[in-house]
Amino acid sequence: MSEQLSDRTTAACLHAAVAAPSMHNTQPWRFRFDGSGFDVYDDAERALPATDPAGRALHISVGAAVCNLRLALAADGWVSRLERPATAGGPVRVVPVATRDPSPDIEALALAINRRRTNRGPYDDAAVPGAVLEALRRAAAGGSTRLVVLDPVRRGAVLAITQAADAWQRTDPRYRRELARWTSERGDRRDGVLAPWFGPRATTAGLPLRDFGLALPRLSREAARFERHPTLVVLHARGDTPEAWLDAGGALQRVLLTATLHGLAVQPMTQALEVAHLRRMLAAPGGVWHPQMILRVGYGGPVEASRRRPLRTFLLHSHRRENPCER
Ligand SMILES: Cc1cc2nc3c(=O)[nH]c(=O)nc-3n(C[C@H](O)[C@H](O)[C@H](O)COP(=O)(O)O)c2cc1C
Repeated sequence: MSEQLSDRTTAACLHAAVAAPSMHNTQPWRFRFDGSGFDVYDDAERALPATDPAGRALHISVGAAVCNLRLALAADGWVSRLERPATAGGPVRVVPVATRDPSPDIEALALAINRRRTNRGPYDDAAVPGAVLEALRRAAAGGSTRLVVLDPVRRGAVLAITQAADAWQRTDPRYRRELARWTSERGDRRDGVLAPWFGPRATTAGLPLRDFGLALPRLSREAARFERHPTLVVLHARGDTPEAWLDAGGALQRVLLTATLHGLAVQPMTQALEVAHLRRMLAAPGGVWHPQMILRVGYGGPVEASRRRPLRTFLLHSHRRENPCER
């Protein structure tokens, strides 16, 4: 890289990265910028050992943050190279290597980063047009990832398996303790899922959304009718390794940003992927494609952005250059 990134670009990249989704809004990322590239580490203290023992969701969150970081770089005119972790637990490295004017598509996706939200409210009964679902499919399609739109039969099966997973988790004290740690009524927290983001209770039968109020039984929550036939899509990765999970995170983020551009609301509903014996039931025949994310998509109301911690709390010190975000 002949030119250096400006402090403004560096800060914009890090802000974009931490805007990514993460399970229970744990924000499990650490970053180091050394003047020539960004190292993205996962933050083991923010792992979810009961719900995500293998670190699959953690890697997906890292993959999504890396995708945002690279998009912010691209929107600022930088082509970047991705270097995968050399050793287990090592960082993903993003290195700006050349300059190039961003395409309108890249600019639009980058602008969607701060508009994207998880929407836990009810969606319209209106069907999502085929062309929009096709745009989501294209956003996910890479050699190593794919998105499948569920037909009514598969949707019924996935909902039934999710219902079983949800019931299983509710009785698991470790799951409940972990959820309690990451959910709160307190409005001053800047991580976790806070009460205003829990969404209403669904009165519609057969829609097993995660109950973020499980650990707060006295919290009063509205009830609402949700869509009767939710549109569900499943993201698969070719393989089930940390590398495949990082790829899935990148594909997830491209899908979420594309959905945002199309005015679609999205909610991950991943309980079925967190109970090993039930997740196996969702694997595609042939053993190649592994389910990594289940999304409910549709048209919903507005949602406020969820919180993020201050940028400095994500930064690891670098000896080579003072980081502009640490001031
Ligand atoms: C791997 C993963 C799994 C998730 N599972 C769920 C889920 O089951 N239900 C849900 O409502 N949100 C789920 N989410 C969304 C997160 O809770 C959300 O990203 C986080 O609270 C931050 O909010 P935001 O997406 O609006 O920025 C998941 C996100 C990720 C990355």
